Amino acid sequence: LLNQDTYLVNGELKKWEGQTSAVFSTISSTEKYEPTILGSIPSMGEKEAIEAVEAASAAYNNGQGLWPTMKVVDRIKCMENFVTQMKTTRTEVVKLLMWEIGKSLGDSEKEFDRTVEYIYDTIDSYKELNARSAHFSKVQGINAMVRRGPLGVVLCLGPYNYPLNETFSLLIPALIMGNPVIFKPAKHGVLLISPLLEAFRSSFPAGAINIVYGRGREVASPIMKSGKVDILALIGNSKSAIALQDQHPNKNRLRLVLGLEAKNPAIILPDADLDLAIQECIAGSLSFNGQRCTALKVLYVHESIADEFNKRFAAKVDALTFGNPWDKSVFLTPLPEKEKPAYIQGLIDDATSKGAKIINEKGGEHTENYIFPAVLFPINKEMRLYHEEQFGPVVPILSFKDIQEPLNDMAESNYGQQVSLFGKDIKTIAPLIDTLVNLVCRVNLNSSCQRGPDVFPFTGRKDSAVGTLSIHDALRSFSIRTFVASKDN
Ligand code: G3H
Repeated sequence: LLNQDTYLVNGELKKWEGQTSAVFSTISSTEKYEPTILGSIPSMGEKEAIEAVEAASAAYNNGQGLWPTMKVVDRIKCMENFVTQMKTTRTEVVKLLMWEIGKSLGDSEKEFDRTVEYIYDTIDSYKELNARSAHFSKVQGINAMVRRGPLGVVLCLGPYNYPLNETFSLLIPALIMGNPVIFKPAKHGVLLISPLLEAFRSSFPAGAINIVYGRGREVASPIMKSGKVDILALIGNSKSAIALQDQHPNKNRLRLVLGLEAKNPAIILPDADLDLAIQECIAGSLSFNGQRCTALKVLYVHESIADEFNKRFAAKVDALTFGNPWDKSVFLTPLPEKEKPAYIQGLIDDATSKGAKIINEKGGEHTENYIFPAVLFPINKEMRLYHEEQFGPVVPILSFKDIQEPLNDMAESNYGQQVSLFGKDIKTIAPLIDTLVNLVCRVNLNSSCQRGPDVFPFTGRKDSAVGTLSIHDALRSFSIRTFVASKDN
């Protein structure tokens, strides 16, 4: 049991004496939802939320604020110190990733290592940014030296599917740019922050990083209502983002860095390499049970190859193995959200009642904490599955006759993150790319959608994102340009 009984505010690990809430795992059995208690976390409220925001605000606003004005070299040392300590927690954090969110051993290790690499790359990018801005340029007799500086207090809220990597893709650039941060871990993947608390405390000055626990409405809301947050950094759903934004008394000056929903399509053209398309569409739609914002959430297959594609895709899905995350031979693992199987079943029922068929034999088979991926065909606009971001193990397929059909659907969609395009003829593909880059922010040729490598810009159009996260862009998202100007006399 890991009873997290401390929290980090103003450079101190404070003992929590109040109520706690249990952290459960669904992973104890692949058959039943047998809630296993992994530990507990503090159920904090307004008092602690205000304490955290006051600490962050003081760290930013007291003029000599140690963190915002710290020399670049010293700030880098703090971050290096943190990542050195973080590396010693690998075994424990990986174990918690498996237990708390059901991520497979291999993917949990990848998430940890990718995050460490992300921090080192951010340090390098930060050095480069400072080196580049440390020279004058002369315009109309005025010498100007542009710098990038912190913007203020950041409230950082990450998602449960990448509780380490995605959260840190907000937190680390925000911090290294000199912004004080208040961080509240997601609803699942919360205990895995515990092994890192001491590393945070000992690496950064008081108030630079504050870590609190509890429900959004009890902790994040009072923080926003205080009016002291300058940047809301959130990866999750737009409903929470809008609600939090609305609670800020002066939301016009609140900067947003948001990674939100997506419904990334794959388009499979008649001349596509079907083996490759099937393999990429399986990984794209069902890795980590489809609980990725970048997952393929709808497949458009040309009608001339739809029968063949569907038959082979369905058989491959049925061959996927299911089991506990530490078993290296499994692909599908139990779902961390107790309510997810019923939600997915609801989407399936709605689609089948409106004419879709489950085309794989095992589709929709249940255990209490899992539902085997159902492949549904044909999907239409009357169905919830066409519109909702399923974020789980179900794959909707549509067939199309004219390429304009999926393009029109994408243009009408509220989302615009990425697309996968499968085909061989460059004469067909080239003009399509010109259209697709105006509908989404990344076009993946003959491969599934993904966020990485983390140096690539990660963003979306419409309701999919606000701001850009890549190692390079995130430093800009969490800073403001200032400059020193001097006249030639
Ligand atoms: O949840 C969305 C993640 O950004 C997906 O990242 O493409 O690396 O799995 P990924």
